Amino acid sequence: MTTPAHAQPPTPRCTAVVGLQWGDEGKGKIIDLITPAFDAVVRYNGGANAGHSVVIKGVRHALHLIPSGIFHPGKKAVIGNGVVVDPDALLRELDALAAKGIDTSGLRLSDRAHVVLPWHKAEDETRENALKTAPPVGTEDEPSPHGGGGDRSIGTTKRGIGPTYSDKAARSTSVRVADLLRPELLRDKITTTWRFKKPTLAALGYDTSQINPDTVYDNALAAGQRLRPMITDTLYELHDLLRSGRSLLFEGANATLLDVDHGTYPFVTSSNCSVLGIPAGTGVPGKHITDVVGVFKAYSTRVGSGPFPTEQTNETGNYIRERGREYGTTTGRPRRVGWLDLVALRYAVMLNAASRLALMLLDVPAGLPELKVCTAYEIEGRRTERFSPDADRLALGRPVYETLPGFPDITAARHRDELPEQCRRYIEFIERYVGAPIDIISVGPDREQTMARAQT
Ligand code: GDP
Ligand code: IMO
Ligand code: MG
Repeated sequence: MTTPAHAQPPTPRCTAVVGLQWGDEGKGKIIDLITPAFDAVVRYNGGANAGHSVVIKGVRHALHLIPSGIFHPGKKAVIGNGVVVDPDALLRELDALAAKGIDTSGLRLSDRAHVVLPWHKAEDETRENALKTAPPVGTEDEPSPHGGGGDRSIGTTKRGIGPTYSDKAARSTSVRVADLLRPELLRDKITTTWRFKKPTLAALGYDTSQINPDTVYDNALAAGQRLRPMITDTLYELHDLLRSGRSLLFEGANATLLDVDHGTYPFVTSSNCSVLGIPAGTGVPGKHITDVVGVFKAYSTRVGSGPFPTEQTNETGNYIRERGREYGTTTGRPRRVGWLDLVALRYAVMLNAASRLALMLLDVPAGLPELKVCTAYEIEGRRTERFSPDADRLALGRPVYETLPGFPDITAARHRDELPEQCRRYIEFIERYVGAPIDIISVGPDREQTMARAQT
């Protein structure tokens, strides 16, 4: 027997919002802006390395683990299984929101998410410090052709992300959220894991007396008790929502060029930050995702190490850094700044199948006499419009620029046709090059400083 069409639940709508550059594109602002059209906002990757700012009526809120849709009461905010969760960081974030009177009762935490423990943060920091002074590669007469030696650090956020994902893959030394609710098993896992971690950390030069496994256990257990009401099988919860025709908004953390498989490896984070991470990180198959909003800023930034062909370590870079307040939301580090890299952007649009784009911080480069955009690289004497996610090859890339005229202040514009002609030219140039429409334009951090072509 066939079911009559009218008995079918409405087709659910799943939208993903992903960063197309090296992070900090303004994903938090976009998520907050479009959340009203959805029933749940879902994080699928990363951990407290993310820093998503939402500015509401001039007040700035920084989120690291909690989805940026939390400011809309009645919506579910889901931390999926692909996220690595530092319970202390999550509880701090919950307390900070509660102190501002924000209702967090819609938060759900996957019982299968992996837990960041103190030794993960210790290992992250200790490895980074050790890599800063790595011995030279090759000999003095015959140095490595790839450089090497000196500073080989990644410039991580030191939030324990890499070590936690490593343990997830290693399996025997990982704790998942569900384990926080099983005292005996939790004690056993923590004791066993410390047996492995202690000598490893000691070998790296870490003072292991700083970690007491009994305290780790007590804290983890206490955190589990506080988090208990929100811990659930989020996979079933998401599929139940889909079956009843509800719409989901997936919130990317970190960004495409930091994707562990498709970013500028090894200068990446440890998860799949592109849309490719959504199915594994939530249990929702990719076929449900019919709309992908790619978020990028009018220029480029990068925090941490790694190749950055369009980087500007000059007055232009400083001008953009100061106007864009380009200092990390999570670590406060000054962000590296450069011109918009259209080669990288087109790669990211392709990888995510971005159906539409959000152009952020367009107000920031205003006042510059001209703007450059990178439209190709020259690598070893050959011109290419292909992005290379291989860091060593990308480091050889010399950007080929197109120069476009600058434009004056645009912070008061609320419609595309209020933007100066030169600014519209910049937008159209990008759309043509990457082959995707720019539907949202942001000219300031506040919700109101946004213009959308299509209603989200
Ligand atoms: P995310 O990690 O992608 O969510 O981005 P971050 O929040 O780390 O960084 C983006 C920064 O830019 C935040 O401080 C936002 O408040 C700010 N921002 C977002 N959109 C705009 C905009 O259009 N103009 C300006 N000037 N700032 C913006
Ligand atoms: P949001 O979500 C910018 C960078 C770090 C470092 C590299 C690896 O706010 O856009 P990790 O701590 O993840 O092992 O660090 O990745 N990184 C980010 N840079 N924004 C982020 O998140 C980032 N998340 C990770 O700076 O270079
Ligand atoms: Mg950020």
